[in-house]
Amino acid sequence: MLKPTFRDRLARARRAVRDARLDAMLVCPSADLLYLTGASLHMRERPIFLVITPARVTLLCPRLEAESSSRVLPGIPVWEWPDGDDAFAMLREKLGKARRIGINSTMRADWVISLLEGRPHARVRSAAPVMVTLRSAKEAGEIRRIQAAADQADQVMGEARRRLKAGVREEELAQWIMARFEKLGAVNPWALVASAENAAMPHHSFGPRKMRRGDVVIVDLGAELNGYQSDITRTFFLGEPEPEAWHVYDVVRGAQFAGRAAVRAGSPGRSADRAAREFIDRHGYGEFFIHRLGHGLGMEVHEEPNLDSSNRRPLPEGAVVTVEPGIYLPGRFGIRLEDVVVARKGEPRTLTRFPLDLALIK
Ligand code: CO
Repeated sequence: MLKPTFRDRLARARRAVRDARLDAMLVCPSADLLYLTGASLHMRERPIFLVITPARVTLLCPRLEAESSSRVLPGIPVWEWPDGDDAFAMLREKLGKARRIGINSTMRADWVISLLEGRPHARVRSAAPVMVTLRSAKEAGEIRRIQAAADQADQVMGEARRRLKAGVREEELAQWIMARFEKLGAVNPWALVASAENAAMPHHSFGPRKMRRGDVVIVDLGAELNGYQSDITRTFFLGEPEPEAWHVYDVVRGAQFAGRAAVRAGSPGRSADRAAREFIDRHGYGEFFIHRLGHGLGMEVHEEPNLDSSNRRPLPEGAVVTVEPGIYLPGRFGIRLEDVVVARKGEPRTLTRFPLDLALIK
């Protein structure tokens, strides 16, 4: 039998499939499957996916992987298809008259074509709305894990700040950060260290540039701890920066505060984006805030729900999102401040706690 957590999640998934008026939802190996079952299977060339109908959950699986799959998915019945057979013919036979079929985002395009062959009346839908509803309302146990990951990221940020000195290369600091996360027991660490004009490019990862006195430096870092991700950004001044940098820092900080305050369960993701954007607009830097306010964070670093101008869906209670406004002045510098918050009915809870008033490194 699967653990109770996963039995609950699968029961919720069956109800969500019914509520979305789908006849079936197919979930390929992915974070979605990991969330629902705890099993990390791999996408290969042979079709394998969970088939969730309002009534039952089954794994469609190549026969040669049936035994290994059953071990990681105990208690879930398997439709095993023999090598050389058409997996989708078996699916057609098993699903009978199912017409509305949801597919998760990692389904291969060629499998969709096979799925539709011989099913002229079938309609394929994105299962994203179902999966987003399930995954974005974090359970208490998930929030505890994200908090632990955030605590670790706070610690590494503090240690990185102490290593930020003139003469150190961006790549040296980034590599030190990643090694540090691994030493602390995290996996899949990543880091961005962007100094001076490099900091004006939001996706500059790191390079050979040696940092100098007077630089503005963006440090964005995170890693996976017990299956959940961290993500925090701070901007540091390596000695006194050009005067406008302090002003821009205050504007980004104000926007971050406004954005965080607007993260509320029941209010749409775009409201928080708008609150932060209006603050930056009002201070005359609107054209330099060139990305969304934030993204969902959980088993993946970037997942739903997004805080951007197009997200009209209300944030569910327990949604964990980043709030990361930035202002990027091309050829000069950039400033971004990012924290992880939990949407609640009242004040949101902020999980990352590294202080925002430690910008200046003397
Ligand atoms: Co982020």
